Amino acid sequence: MKIYYFFKKRYYWLLNAFSILYNEPNFFKVIERMCPVDISIENIKKEFDKAGYICDSEVIITVYLALKLEKPILIEGEPGVGKTELGKVLSQVFNTELIRLQCYEGLDENKALYEWNYQKQLLKIQLLKGSQYEQTLEEDLFSREYLLERPLLKAIQADKKVVLLIDEVDKTDEEFEAFLFELLSDFQVSVPELGTLTTGDIPIVVLTSNNERELSDGLKRRCIYLYLDYPSVEREVDIIKAKVPGIEDRLTQQIARAVNLIRQNAEIKKKPSIAETLDWARALLTLNQDSLDEKTIKQTMNILLKTKADLDSFYQHIGPVALDEYARSK
Ligand SMILES: Nc1ncnc2c1ncn2[C@@H]1O[C@H](COP(=O)(O)OP(=O)(O)OP(=O)(O)O)[C@@H](O)[C@H]1O
Ligand SMILES: [Mg+2]
Repeated sequence: MKIYYFFKKRYYWLLNAFSILYNEPNFFKVIERMCPVDISIENIKKEFDKAGYICDSEVIITVYLALKLEKPILIEGEPGVGKTELGKVLSQVFNTELIRLQCYEGLDENKALYEWNYQKQLLKIQLLKGSQYEQTLEEDLFSREYLLERPLLKAIQADKKVVLLIDEVDKTDEEFEAFLFELLSDFQVSVPELGTLTTGDIPIVVLTSNNERELSDGLKRRCIYLYLDYPSVEREVDIIKAKVPGIEDRLTQQIARAVNLIRQNAEIKKKPSIAETLDWARALLTLNQDSLDEKTIKQTMNILLKTKADLDSFYQHIGPVALDEYARSK
């Protein structure tokens, strides 16, 4: 990859000529897709910045180790702190498919791994009934043609390294979790009718959890653990700058400070997430604000706080005047 970038820098014109010659406007992308991204701490940081995912060095190092050791990353943290986004960004950085398994109560192997296409099987049975092919029917019905790959099998059977995002794993039951950690240890699946299916390239696996219930030790043992906290004021300023282009520096600082103060208040139960900070920043920009003021805080607080109880707590324990003063103070 390094050689490619060196070449791209020096001989950009030559690569350009190739792209015209072969009528392939995405020539660079094709080569980049063929070359794996260099996994180094500096490179991950650079690529995350480029993708607009702003995080601390601890996050970068954890991701680096998980990639190097080919272990799943288990991310826990409050809602909206960037858990799912990390999976998405990894697929962007590695220019690979994101296969997502959204977990929910009652999720089972049929929906997560594979199931047989009963309708297609039934149709085939009806079609071949009484014909000379009826004898070989059973064998045929349980072939690949009738297998419906669900996200886990899809990730195992992918012909290149993919990102497998197992989102909100805490919503499943313990039985499914036990099945999951077996799968994550050897990345192979036994389909009785087809035999053992294994992976060529171990996928990059990201599991997220909102901590609705304690996950088992078995699952944790197989993963590299990452706790994502709310960002510091400085970090949130960088996130706003990356995600809301055109916003004034002064307003950015004020937003980050104001959100930070609200999060610190113990009376506010549902703390504003990064996503809500970004919504607030976009809203203030839409209202042509270049600085916070008491009136605008009052008019837009519903973008940050989304329950009546939290809005009441805000007016009772902080209030627009104090928030405005705090946000403006250095
Ligand atoms: N570190 C970050 N850098 C840039 N943007 C971020 C970061 N963290 C979060 N965001 C923004 O916040 C949004 C919400 O993040 P995300 O959906 O990943 O949260 P989550 O932790 O998965 O929340 P939930 O638990 O509700 O699913 C993202 O779409 C992204 O725009
Ligand atoms: Mg999420």
